[in-house]
Amino acid sequence: AKVTLSVIKADIGGFVGHSAVHPEVIEKARGCLEGHPLLIDYRVVHVGDDVNLIMTHNRGRNSGEIHQLAWDTFTACTEVAKKLKLYGAGQDLLSDAFSGNIKGLGPGVAEIEVEERESEPVVVLMADKTEPGAWNLPLYKIFADPFNTIGLVIDPKMHCGFDFEVRDLIENKKVILSCPEDLYDLLVFIGAPGRYAVKRVFHRGTGEIAAASSTQRLNLIAGRYVGKDDPVCIVRCQNGYPSVGEVLEPFAFPHLVSGWMRGSHSGPLMPVAMADARPTRFDGPPRVVALGFQLANGRLVGPHDFFGDPAFDRARKLALTIADYMRRMGPFEPHRLHLDEMEYTTMPQVMEKLKDRFIDLRRDKKPKEKAAGGVA
Ligand code: 13P
Ligand code: 13P
Ligand code: MG
Ligand code: MG
Ligand code: MG
Ligand code: MG
Repeated sequence: AKVTLSVIKADIGGFVGHSAVHPEVIEKARGCLEGHPLLIDYRVVHVGDDVNLIMTHNRGRNSGEIHQLAWDTFTACTEVAKKLKLYGAGQDLLSDAFSGNIKGLGPGVAEIEVEERESEPVVVLMADKTEPGAWNLPLYKIFADPFNTIGLVIDPKMHCGFDFEVRDLIENKKVILSCPEDLYDLLVFIGAPGRYAVKRVFHRGTGEIAAASSTQRLNLIAGRYVGKDDPVCIVRCQNGYPSVGEVLEPFAFPHLVSGWMRGSHSGPLMPVAMADARPTRFDGPPRVVALGFQLANGRLVGPHDFFGDPAFDRARKLALTIADYMRRMGPFEPHRLHLDEMEYTTMPQVMEKLKDRFIDLRRDKKPKEKAAGGVA
């Protein structure tokens, strides 16, 4: 029988501000999932102020019942958050009612359905204070860059490469690009992570799922700022897929992502152990956690908290150095995001206030004189 791994997450209220999740909220979520007849197994964790439900079951992807369970769990957690007056209670629940599928309602969803192999190691990546496109660079390195993933070169089961399903988050379109041949085309898109995000990756030999991420953009759903998406991603490992070490290796480089303070800044993605997933400095810097599980007939054997390894200490140190450097830019780009990418702005009000003080320099202009014999 196939097993589905569903990771569904939402920020339903921060403790304190946008830093973490209150223990009573986690307890409530566990209470909702414990012993539930739909589930084989589950874990509830938090990364920053986002509650992550990691669930296994036999209902397949996009199961209305599983999505309903997640929705009901978040709703119950929101009651706790309201009672404790946590910050932004129910923040990511953008609808009053559930209608069959949780996608488009605010929570982030990543799901894979697999025929369990003899051994089925998976890594669940979870981030706070950033957007779904934050996975583009690591997924590219994991599945297309032989300088990261030696398996692409020396493993006969991986040498065929991987297909990338890329979503256009603005026009809601998708395209499949096959690597290595489409590699340059792929980078044209995923190098713009605010618009294009890698939704899924498939093994080209078997057509099997290799990775899946959450790609909703909260502000596009809500039409206003409701915090960052704080995405999740599931990656299968070993035996035809990248090894665990190849999946984690890109995070030894804390690449710049959009998010951080007020969702409007660029900063380094810092790999941390679960205990350190409490973004604090300027509400950040953005964090990523990697939890490993062995699936055993749907049981979640784990988690193993990968970024607790001191081998990632230097990445953290570099992230902090980059954070110091970026912060000194204050309200200037490119630390502060470009106008089009900021989650909120006072520009319209300030423009309105100053409109009489603006002088249009085009108005009184005489027609341009032709430069005599000059080259235009
Ligand atoms: P071990 O000998 O520790 O099992 O390592 C095997 C391997 O392939 C590591 O990537
Ligand atoms: P979250 O999306 O994690 O709630 O962050 C929102 C924010 O504005 C941080 O400054
Ligand atoms: Mg929040
Ligand atoms: Mg968050
Ligand atoms: Mg958020
Ligand atoms: Mg071994």
